Amino acid sequence: MSMLPFDDRDGSIWLDGALVPWRDAKLHVLTHGLHYASAVFEGERCYGGRIFKMREHHERLHASAELMGFEIPWSAAEIDAASEEVLKANGIVDGYVRPIAWRGAEMMGVSAQHNKIHLAIAAWEWPAYFSPEARLQGIRMTEGMYRRPDPRTAPVHSKAAGLYMICTLSKHDAEGKGFNDALMLDWRGQIAEATGANIFLVQDGVIHTPTPDCFLDGITRRTVMDLARQRGYEIVERAIMPEEFGRTQEVFLTGTAVEVTPVREIALADAIYHFTPGEITVNLVHDYDALVQGKAATPATSAA
Ligand SMILES: Cc1ncc(COP(=O)(O)O)c(C=O)c1O
Repeated sequence: MSMLPFDDRDGSIWLDGALVPWRDAKLHVLTHGLHYASAVFEGERCYGGRIFKMREHHERLHASAELMGFEIPWSAAEIDAASEEVLKANGIVDGYVRPIAWRGAEMMGVSAQHNKIHLAIAAWEWPAYFSPEARLQGIRMTEGMYRRPDPRTAPVHSKAAGLYMICTLSKHDAEGKGFNDALMLDWRGQIAEATGANIFLVQDGVIHTPTPDCFLDGITRRTVMDLARQRGYEIVERAIMPEEFGRTQEVFLTGTAVEVTPVREIALADAIYHFTPGEITVNLVHDYDALVQGKAATPATSAA
């Protein structure tokens, strides 16, 4: 991936209805979205020029905005078309797409009932960084310094910018300690997710994943659950406490960015757990890769 700064690149960004030169896609410093985090966004990948689950992402963007009390003045179909326009204008085949909607700068204060709603869509090249084989090495995680909040305290099902404050702080802390990512527990101490991905545990051939009652029910999460069911694997959604890592053989993450990524170590305050990707993880890494690349799934190992 290029290390060019994101505000100083060639290309075009779609801003409020038209493509503008990349460096001109700016907003005012008194934007409500900047001061009060009244912004929602999506993270999408395109493979071979096609955005995976595009409509679902744009419907979720609308749902996120609704949870934040505003309506995006472009329909999901219009956002689909605008995203395709952005890919075409920038010549992107394998990349990442980032739509973001936010309250503008007309009113400056906690209340901003009449601020204009803006929408921008940017995209950049992001080829699959690791082959499935390289990804199977697995990542290392440690406990996040913050916890996912109670649904009574925040709009937890919105992909809202403000909810990433705890993720950025937790991920920075984990990286500072030499880990790849943070494991986010929820306010009850249950396993919730990673900072930008959902989590699955494999225990004696059965897949377990936390009930998404205070975090995003990821599009990749649901896709991978479908793939798992197609292979005949049993999946249980339930509350899971971190002590259960002690009787877990495989752990993997799912998300648009990480796709299906195995976890090889989770270090918590009182215990360090190690995992090895087994048949289930390996099959799902390959099945997801085949699905997004538009290839038929070729089982690495036969179904359980
Ligand atoms: C906090 C968080 N959880 C889960 C996910 C996974 O969601 P998806 O699979 O829709 O990308 C993401 C990524 O969007 C995320 O940021």
